[in-house]
Amino acid sequence: MRKFSALVVFLMSLIFVIQSCKKDESETELDNQLYDEIKSSTGYLFYQDGDTLSGVSPSPHGSFRLRFNTTAQNVLDSIHELPAGSTFPTGSILVKEVYKNNALNLLVVMKKNPSGTDAASGWQWAEFNPDGSVFYSTSKKGDACVSCHTSSPNRDLTKTFDLH
Ligand code: HEC
Repeated sequence: MRKFSALVVFLMSLIFVIQSCKKDESETELDNQLYDEIKSSTGYLFYQDGDTLSGVSPSPHGSFRLRFNTTAQNVLDSIHELPAGSTFPTGSILVKEVYKNNALNLLVVMKKNPSGTDAASGWQWAEFNPDGSVFYSTSKKGDACVSCHTSSPNRDLTKTFDLH
């Protein structure tokens, strides 16, 4: 009987470990999918001709260049800003390339994906190191991002257009 209980405990632990691994895998999968969409700037449009802009209070991001994928470009006006009151369509991606000492330091990402399992307030939120490893996972559902990005002023939760 004791052996049997030990076996049951062992099997339950095994199932638990397998389940946790599975969860990690799918979280990583969503991050990897997003990274694949943003790693190259091909097809992206750079804000303000790709000039490096300095972060403005309350930004935690530092000097940056901002780029938009083609879906996001569709709603920008002639100076490449989102008109106040407009929203980005599903599939829009904004990538903020953060620079430190003139070298790429971090890729900070927002993707409009309201039905995504890891979306918060309609967006996926992520940060990647230049080598593609995850710095801030989409699975965290923007818990470090949303409160600041919903602060006033914002345009569909984006902050750049009112500050730069
Ligand atoms: C304390 C405020 C604050 C927090 C926290 C914050 N941001 Fe931002 N973010 C800003 C500001 C301000 C800008 C405008 C550009 C600038 O000056 O840096 C910005 C710009 C951006 C942009 C470019 C698009 C836009 O909104 O203009 C992205 C993408 C972005 N942030 C993603 C994130 C992610 C992902 C997180 C969480 C991991 C995060 N931010 C946390 C303040 C914040």
